[in-house]
Amino acid sequence: PTHKITLIPGDGIGPEVTAATVKILEAAGKITGASFEWHTHNAGADAFAKTGEYIPQSLYDSVKENKVALKGPVTTPIGGGFTSINVTLRKKFDLYSNFRPVKSLPGIKTNYPNLDLVIFRENTEDLYAGLEVMINPDIAQSLKIITRKGSLRIAKSAFEYARRHGRKKVHAIHKANIMKLSDGLFLKCCKEVAAEYPEITYAEHIVDNTCMQLVMNPFQYDIILTENLYGDILSDLCSGLIGGLGLVPGANIGVDASIFEAVHGSAPDIAGQDKANPTALLQSAVLMLHHLEETATADLIQKALERVYAEGKTLTRDIGGTAGTTAFSDAVVAALSA
Ligand code: NAI
Ligand code: MG
Repeated sequence: PTHKITLIPGDGIGPEVTAATVKILEAAGKITGASFEWHTHNAGADAFAKTGEYIPQSLYDSVKENKVALKGPVTTPIGGGFTSINVTLRKKFDLYSNFRPVKSLPGIKTNYPNLDLVIFRENTEDLYAGLEVMINPDIAQSLKIITRKGSLRIAKSAFEYARRHGRKKVHAIHKANIMKLSDGLFLKCCKEVAAEYPEITYAEHIVDNTCMQLVMNPFQYDIILTENLYGDILSDLCSGLIGGLGLVPGANIGVDASIFEAVHGSAPDIAGQDKANPTALLQSAVLMLHHLEETATADLIQKALERVYAEGKTLTRDIGGTAGTTAFSDAVVAALSA
């Protein structure tokens, strides 16, 4: 079948990693018979320059119709400027579950070979929602909102995933010792859901301790279930355990739409230089292919990617190689038919 996918290239390294990923999916589709129709709509400062809107209506319409998008990172200005495009899209389509598998790839030298954990990050509320006001010029207030609905549905996503994939443990990560009401409600909801999954071990860790535990012994974690801001921070920490932000994919799952994107941002320090590692976005596309039940194409790409890493001849700079984005993605294309 032909899959209609909204493609949001983003900015910074976004256009480079999305082009590499589309090239690999097209090549894999030629082998497996899958075909793709890419509906390209950009967002962010580039879109604003062209259309006068940070998120053009055509992008919303396209995601609504296709229900699936592949997205590159979008730069968000610090301080003033516009509200995060990412946060806006997640709220608009109610993409409540941010799923981020952190799994070691072969051949990469790290202190933690064979790590395999999954992060479920609540994606629509918490301090991350950006509900802020200046009380007066000297006092700023950010509101942390945690709801029963938001907490229950992310907890259900995590436990349901655990059950379907034979995972053994879910750790709820929190700071309910300090934020007794908000994080307290989150934990209460996690506990309620955990009771429906007696075969899965449930534990609770405080977030600061979790950072230390992740560095000392990440293997104790199987599934990490957490709120929006802690999930954001822990995702980057976990990516560092397996080789960096160039590797870790993500899926923003909602009821009516899903947007697949890497954990990393627009990496302005290396943008436009053919240096970015497209692996994180490519693995996000593999998650998207599974979501579309395009299993053969997903498996073909994942195997080819792992072969390139295992051989170790064509690696990008972030993990100690010298290859550019283009050479690396060409190596993956070659490995598809190897
Ligand atoms: P970043 O994730 O863009 O970069 C952090 C470091 O990791 C940099 O040294 C960068 O070169 C490296 N890196 C990231 N992705 C890489 C890749 N694929 N290959 C090789 N190296 C890679 O974080 P930073 O610099 O804090 O944020 C830059 C911009 O991205 C900000 O405007 C931020 O708001 C935005 N951002 C957007 C996201 C999204 O669109 N989903 C997510 C995170 C940040
Ligand atoms: Mg982040």
